[in-house]
Amino acid sequence: MGAKAYSEKETTEEWSSKIAFVLAAVGSAVGLGNLWRFPYVAGENGGGAFVVFYVICVVLIGLPVLVAELFIGRRGRLSSANSVLRIADAEGRSSLWAWQSYLGMIGSFIILTFYSVIAGWIMAFIAMIGSDLVQGIAIDGFGALMNGVFADQTRDDISAKLGALLSDPKRMIIYHGIFIALSVFIVAQGVTGGIEKAVVWLMPAFFVLLLALVVFALYSGDRARGLDFLFGFRLQDQISPNGDITTRGLFTGLKDGSIIGAALGQAFFSLSLGSAVLSTYGSHMSREQDLPESSGAIAIVDTSVGILAGIAIFPIVFQMGLAPAGGPTLMFSTLLLAFQGMPAGAVFGLFFFLLALVAAVTSAISLLETATAWFEEKRPGRQRGWVAVMLGLIIFVIGIANALSQLPTETDVFFNTWRPWGIIPLFQTGDGSAMELLSFLSALTDIILPVAGLITAIFAGWIVSTAVSREEIGFASEAWYQRWRFLIRWVCPVGIVTVIVYGVVIAPFLLS
Ligand code: TRP
Repeated sequence: MGAKAYSEKETTEEWSSKIAFVLAAVGSAVGLGNLWRFPYVAGENGGGAFVVFYVICVVLIGLPVLVAELFIGRRGRLSSANSVLRIADAEGRSSLWAWQSYLGMIGSFIILTFYSVIAGWIMAFIAMIGSDLVQGIAIDGFGALMNGVFADQTRDDISAKLGALLSDPKRMIIYHGIFIALSVFIVAQGVTGGIEKAVVWLMPAFFVLLLALVVFALYSGDRARGLDFLFGFRLQDQISPNGDITTRGLFTGLKDGSIIGAALGQAFFSLSLGSAVLSTYGSHMSREQDLPESSGAIAIVDTSVGILAGIAIFPIVFQMGLAPAGGPTLMFSTLLLAFQGMPAGAVFGLFFFLLALVAAVTSAISLLETATAWFEEKRPGRQRGWVAVMLGLIIFVIGIANALSQLPTETDVFFNTWRPWGIIPLFQTGDGSAMELLSFLSALTDIILPVAGLITAIFAGWIVSTAVSREEIGFASEAWYQRWRFLIRWVCPVGIVTVIVYGVVIAPFLLS
């Protein structure tokens, strides 16, 4: 046998408590996917019927893969790829299995290049709302706290803010840079010295803000319509009472298959699966910690946050007679219009964007940590801080291209017109034109992560010996272990392959 391809110096650094680990993992999982994607996808695809379907996907496919990633990290006690190499080596198996982690690292690296651009937009809006609020207080005194957001501006002014930001490269790049610098700063301090210190403050703050927004929405929003949009159990397509939105029933999604991509794709993205994050975090988990219980806690909290975000958003959107939109428009335009009309809308609008920023920071540090931990092991002489800074610089530069790709095409900058991937149907928008760089990278990671998850499921279920997985996971009973094993060997691979085939072949070619 030749030299080992991985370092044998295992990590001895452990999270200082069980809750610190859970908060870090929840911090990674809870992100923009929960805040703006889940509520909208659920409302659009059958409401309560979708929520039920989604929960089934999380339990049958998300959770088993989550357990697998965590036990691989805890067993290997190294960064994600090296943990896999070490386990594969001990089992006498191929080092190619480490591709689950290489793909995951590539995927999380790409995600961070655009996640931080979007986080930059959030910071820009916090600055705008914050300064507007401060000005209001300077003029009207503290009574201004009861104002709506941008109280003296017209609706058109407000709707124009996102467009104005997206045609201002300097502003986008500066905020993107600040966000990356912040993430690098936290990761450079190490797992317990940086990441853990950040999450134990940020996550409780996140939950306080979220609950405040939920109470506000239930108290002053249109509860009935908001909750019906999110939870109304719609199996058939429906036209809403005033005829302005058509929502698809669950059956429609089942018939054309779109529901599978929507629910399982969302479950994967939302739980941060397939991105080497959970095995990296899992490598610092104590052997004393109950792994299945922690996995359940992560999945429950992540799903609840998506649902609570919907309860915080839709009642106020409907209260103002607006129609729910998807993607950036929901957050950066529709919600602002809703917060304008609400008493104390400026304060709660500010809360909402702070909430989103916290969610983005705790996800970004996990994305940066995966590659940082790996490079740190590759070059033992290197300082973690140095690795984090170098990675941050590369991400900053690629992120600039992502920011520029959002400029209006008339401005004619290389990155907003260069779209060679547009010949592939998968990377075209609804009207057949090429996606811009940011959407292309996002669509690309929507494929990379499930493929990495598929390799993980096969590795954990078929390659790792039962003695190792049984011992490392430590289920309360053999019956639970057998249930997990059945899911990871059969249900997960079949489910993930279905999503990939649907997303890569059926949706772009057959449905377009
Ligand atoms: N889970 C995050 C969200 O819901 C996004 C995400 C996907 C992610 N994969 C990740 C975050 C890996 C951190 C690590 O927004």
